[in-house]
Amino acid sequence: MKTLYIKIKELLQVRESGISKISGSDMETLPTIKNAFLLIEDDTIIDYGKMENAPIEKADKTLDVAGKMILPSWCDSHTHLVYAGNREQEFVDRINGLSYEEIANKGGGILNSAKTLQETSEADLFEQSSKRLEQIIRLGTGAVEIKSGYGLTTEAELKMLKVIRRLKKKYPIAIKSTFLGAHAVPLEFKKNKDEYIAKIINEILPEVARLNLADYIDVFCEKGYFSVGEMEAILFASKKFGLIPKVHVNQFNAIGGIPAAVRHEALSVDHLEVMDKEDFKSLKNTDTMPVGLPLCSFFLGIPYTPARELMDNGLPFALATDYNPGSSPSGNMNLVVSTACIKMKITPEEAINAATINGAYAMGISQTHGSITKGKKANFIITKEIPSYGYLPYDFGNNNIERVILNGKAI
Ligand code: NIG
Ligand code: FE
Repeated sequence: MKTLYIKIKELLQVRESGISKISGSDMETLPTIKNAFLLIEDDTIIDYGKMENAPIEKADKTLDVAGKMILPSWCDSHTHLVYAGNREQEFVDRINGLSYEEIANKGGGILNSAKTLQETSEADLFEQSSKRLEQIIRLGTGAVEIKSGYGLTTEAELKMLKVIRRLKKKYPIAIKSTFLGAHAVPLEFKKNKDEYIAKIINEILPEVARLNLADYIDVFCEKGYFSVGEMEAILFASKKFGLIPKVHVNQFNAIGGIPAAVRHEALSVDHLEVMDKEDFKSLKNTDTMPVGLPLCSFFLGIPYTPARELMDNGLPFALATDYNPGSSPSGNMNLVVSTACIKMKITPEEAINAATINGAYAMGISQTHGSITKGKKANFIITKEIPSYGYLPYDFGNNNIERVILNGKAI
């Protein structure tokens, strides 16, 4: 079944095949076609171009989208959207003066979410997570990475990963799953962190691999969580199961996590709110994607990832939501793009590149997602009537999406 979209006001992020990521000053350019057509066959993009060349005779169905734009679906490469309950009390505690760190030290934070999740059935967790996934699909996300890390026991980590697997089966959105057993040290191991790390390496990780539940491995490398050496031990152990690293580094402190992750050939290094010279240097001429999470910076009131400096150093840059109950209870990629423009001072072109093709790269799917390219998945957003694509980040907090197409089908 061939569907032809005609009179597209502007078709955004049109790329030749074979481009996996965009770096440095190339990010300033967003290739587009004005007054365009787009032809899809079933779930695949097969052609696009100027309206005067539209192959009207080839289409089984033709849809006129005059005044509207089409862009590839958002690719959200970093979320924790499988979680149980919420943490609005900690939000109020922070308003009243407690820091994220102080709340965590009192047993709140990740450990608070872990306790709730351990007490939640798999069925209930699936229901809660499905609602969030449906919500982000409506907001234009067409591919998403989801982490474990609120289980922190073998049973609860597997429960999370099984929920991710069920989501993959049920929904048309592309999903990648990441094992984040080293998200925080459970209370019972507080005095014996090594024992918890040994448990991850010898017990949980092999089980995750045996059941084929994860595509990637993550560690929260941070003061008070896991050191660089501890992260490296976990990444080393993961290698024999073929798990590629995508890690949390440099959220509050620069402790050497970025160069270590690069040495372990991480696909992405995420957060990067605090970076030193060595960190920039270590990323140059590597395949590791730096990922910024502006909603986390906004929600916690912490610095923003230096996106401008990364790109000025010739590096690529991706944007993601970090959707989670503690530091970013929003999975809205439209808001991510706006916030990046406003607070990181990057242009709409750079932000859209960061939230589509580079997001796809950061979860290993840029051969099939992240741009309007022949042969890629027909995953795209049809906007409402808007004056220009810069209007999308400008009109922050408002919804300019009219329709979402996943695998060729309207949602
Ligand atoms: O990416 N920083 C580590 N993990 C999450 C937040 C976890 C939480 O507060 O629940 C993040 O920000
Ligand atoms: Fe995160």
